Amino acid sequence: MVKICCIGAGYVGGPTMAMIALKCPDIQVVVVDISKPRIAAWNSDELPIYEPGLDEVVKACRDKNLFFSTEVEKHVAEADIVFVSVNTPTKTRGLGAGKAADLTYWESAARMIADVSKSDKIVVEKSTVPVKTAEAIEKILTHNNNGIHFQILSNPEFLAEGTAIEDLAKPDRVLIGGRETPEGQKAVAALKAVYAHWVPEDRILTTNLWSAELSKLAANAFLAQRISSINAMSALCESTGANVSEVAYAVGKDSRIGPKFLNASVGFGGSCFQKDILNLVYICECNGLPDVAHYWKQVVQINDYQKTRFVKRVVSSMFNTVSGKKIAILGFAFKKDTGDTRETPAIDVCHGLLGDKALLSIYDPQVTEDQIKRDLAMNKFDWDHPQHLQPQSPTAFKQVSVVWDAYEATKDAHGVCIITEWEEFKKLDYQRIYDNMQKPAFIFDGRNVLNVQALRTIGFIVYSIGKPLDPWVKDLQVSI
Ligand code: NAD
Ligand code: UDX
Repeated sequence: MVKICCIGAGYVGGPTMAMIALKCPDIQVVVVDISKPRIAAWNSDELPIYEPGLDEVVKACRDKNLFFSTEVEKHVAEADIVFVSVNTPTKTRGLGAGKAADLTYWESAARMIADVSKSDKIVVEKSTVPVKTAEAIEKILTHNNNGIHFQILSNPEFLAEGTAIEDLAKPDRVLIGGRETPEGQKAVAALKAVYAHWVPEDRILTTNLWSAELSKLAANAFLAQRISSINAMSALCESTGANVSEVAYAVGKDSRIGPKFLNASVGFGGSCFQKDILNLVYICECNGLPDVAHYWKQVVQINDYQKTRFVKRVVSSMFNTVSGKKIAILGFAFKKDTGDTRETPAIDVCHGLLGDKALLSIYDPQVTEDQIKRDLAMNKFDWDHPQHLQPQSPTAFKQVSVVWDAYEATKDAHGVCIITEWEEFKKLDYQRIYDNMQKPAFIFDGRNVLNVQALRTIGFIVYSIGKPLDPWVKDLQVSI
């Protein structure tokens, strides 16, 4: 029986390995992590991450051919194929701080693999890493010079949170990069055989190592670029009276462009887009390509601009001050169907409003009060560096309450901000919400999920990203 071990039981390692176990009953899969609470949760009824369909997949194979363990070294030593799916955050200190990928976790995993291995292994980069990382990893793996052979492969993951199980079951493609030597190609074939249990052959792409590593950064950059492009258009729509949804539809009807990923929003979030683009920017700079670096940096800058622009709309519409006013924040996760808050635009919007002394009442169906308060207390990029976390600031939290119901959040509020596109926000009783709010009652829809006309009929003053402006908002706007 082939034995797979995956280092890192996070958003990628957990679901990916669960899918391999489900589809390959002849393979034993062990997911290991240094975090005891995380592994305990994977072994419990309350999994550490919320992902539609994940519970069923884990339940179907846990303790049969899928195991979660903290005995990292033991399982690595026993494995034929070792996936490394540890976090690769943005560096916060030293050379490349604020841009470069921090490979501390990866390096320590690679050193451990080298130290505990007693048989040849295939080591798979599942984490997103800078192009050419495999070269450095190879050097680390072979530093012991003890006759054990390692083949390193790049097999980046393209799943999106909220649809991880669907994406893993029916991937657009699986990408495997390896050395162009006979040993490298043998390793590629071995990994291909794992995916071939359920992925059609023509969807398993094989390339050289550097193409695979770079394709992952490129794919995320292209996806984020589409969002920044439509978000940039949304600002122009508001100035001209065009409607961004109509523009996106018309543009997306061109089969060369396509309709996906053209939803204007308060800004993209998530643990990947910003981190990976900043990493790409850094790699371009290091390779003497400042113009290319500048081009991609704009994608992140437009995203920051969009979040700031949203806050300015809120404040300027409400007579240029939100000081002492209750504002309901509906949604805190970076997108619907996940409890993940990494780099969520909600953090920047809340900081902007708190800076203007607003009183925030926050509701998200999947995010706990603890998580929200931790996120609001953190410095940028520190979410993936637990050792840098700041103690929570009691002053800021006097302005923040977290509640478990959208009606409670909006009661007596002056304004409502929709930050995450949860389905339940479309179905709320907005007449009831309006009746219980201060007047004039404002709604700022950062996801374009609400029916603007119906809300205006109720009496709300409505701002919806990239939609023709409410005369009220237009009259009171400052320079955005
Ligand atoms: P995560 O933080 O959820 O999980 C990483 C896990 O690795 C953590 O549980 C951590 O405790 C563990 N870990 C770190 N060092 C370890 C070590 N030396 N030994 C054992 N365990 C260790 O991260 P994630 O979201 O799963 O992302 C992992 C990688 O996959 C990143 O490079 C990310 O960019 C990439 N990626 C993420 C997504 C996504 O949607 N989250 C999608 C595609 C790719
Ligand atoms: C992304 C990539 O899609 C995935 O392939 C990669 O493996 C990891 O990074 P993820 O971050 O989980 O996945 O979610 P995604 O659906 O890409 O959304 C990212 C952010 O963009 C979210 O905040 C989402 O709300 C936002 N978004 C997405 C928009 O604002 N508009 C859109 O049209 C699409």
